[in-house]
Amino acid sequence: MPRITAVSLRDRKSNGDKIAVLTAYDFPTAKLMDAAGVDAILVGDSCGMVVMGMPDTTGVTMDMMLHHVKIVSRAVKHALVIADMPFLSYQVSPEEALRNAGRFVSEAGAQAVKLEGPAEKFGPAIKAILDAGIPVMGHIGLTPQSVHQIGGYKVQGRDPDSKARLREEALGLARAGCFALVLECIPAALAAEITESISIPTIGIGAGPHCDGQVLVMHDMLGLGKYTKFAKVYGDAGALMSKAFADYVSEVKSGAFPTPEHSFE
Ligand code: KIV
Repeated sequence: MPRITAVSLRDRKSNGDKIAVLTAYDFPTAKLMDAAGVDAILVGDSCGMVVMGMPDTTGVTMDMMLHHVKIVSRAVKHALVIADMPFLSYQVSPEEALRNAGRFVSEAGAQAVKLEGPAEKFGPAIKAILDAGIPVMGHIGLTPQSVHQIGGYKVQGRDPDSKARLREEALGLARAGCFALVLECIPAALAAEITESISIPTIGIGAGPHCDGQVLVMHDMLGLGKYTKFAKVYGDAGALMSKAFADYVSEVKSGAFPTPEHSFE
């Protein structure tokens, strides 16, 4: 099977083939996702919250992300690996943005990067990264790195001003050369309108069914995260793991484990 590239994903827009994206942060899950046919694996800065227990993503650093991107890249042979640029890795200057995006590719094996926010603010950073040959995915709507400015994890684009702003931002990021655009937590009708209006695929999370693709945080879809309306739980890994841990404790205490089967003569 040929490797999926940012170009082949962008070109899916024209043939209507939906794009399935998941987040991953470790080797075994990334390997399973790749084998299951996931198109792109995003090593999201959500790892700060779902893996490291942080209250939000603003404490995630380049070193943390490089560690997780390296692990995931080692496991993936088919899907596109996208590294999420953490808070302050691209906001300070285009030079720093390029240096950090470059590290994800040269040191950690990613094939693309994602950053949050409009081209109006980060156009120069996006251009610098693209000029170095690194594909960029955009991300608008609920942008978790701006949680303190937004005032919480709320649906965006409900009032006319914010709708108009998001329409403009989507067009701006497509024009800036992004290969795809994440739309997070916006009304389904607005996501449909944006999807119709831009030339690159939209990847929705809490943005309804009309996007060109979907992304979910792995822990949410496996029942390991907090309840979110938009995240369907496809398997209750939390229940499976809790039962396995409790069974182990009880068998160690009762002496039922290990048996001769798990012992050496
Ligand atoms: O960090 C992340 O996992 C993300 C997705 C929610 C799109 O940005």
